[in-house]
Amino acid sequence: MRNNQQLTPVAIFASGKGSNAAKIIAHFQHHPSIKIQLIVSNKADAGVVAIAQANHIAYLIVEKEKFFRGDAYLPQFTRVGIQWIILAGFLWKLPVSLIRAFPDKIINIHPALLPKYGGKGMYGDFVHQAILDAREKESGITIHYVDEVYDQGKIIFQTACVVEEKDTITTLSAKVHALEHMHFPEVIEQVIMKGK
Ligand code: GRF
Repeated sequence: MRNNQQLTPVAIFASGKGSNAAKIIAHFQHHPSIKIQLIVSNKADAGVVAIAQANHIAYLIVEKEKFFRGDAYLPQFTRVGIQWIILAGFLWKLPVSLIRAFPDKIINIHPALLPKYGGKGMYGDFVHQAILDAREKESGITIHYVDEVYDQGKIIFQTACVVEEKDTITTLSAKVHALEHMHFPEVIEQVIMKGK
């Protein structure tokens, strides 16, 4: 039997389909020391909520005004002992007080090679479209810590993929997602294990 006290509780924040969340959940399902404790979403009908339900993981739907009040949800995170926050396609900028409550304990994934194609408005397909418009030869993924400057936290991991002339948003997004699914869970594991 595993002793729950030895498990580091982690929350995943996501707004969309949740394919990364699903990979992370699967990766940590039987992990001896890391537990996906909570799924947080701003959308009750997001795919990630169905994934939480299917995996019997508690989920929390956050409401805009309360979320941006800063630390309003903090008690709900601390009550279940959340120690790390993983942003896997969470579309709201985190309030500063939440970032300060988890210093160097929030990890984001960005679907491009930061510092290029980051910042305001650069999310999801907008990123891929901008890369195609600029006729870039490569794209990729960036896994980074979240600090108070949007998309500029310390980079933990990057890897690239080729962008071909025939690529579309759909094919480029599929390449980037494949990289995310391959690397994100393992990078999370390495970072958390190092910080334990
Ligand atoms: C990913 O491409 C991630 O990089 C970005 O949002 C997307 C989420 O995809 N931040 P999914 O919901 O995990 O499929």
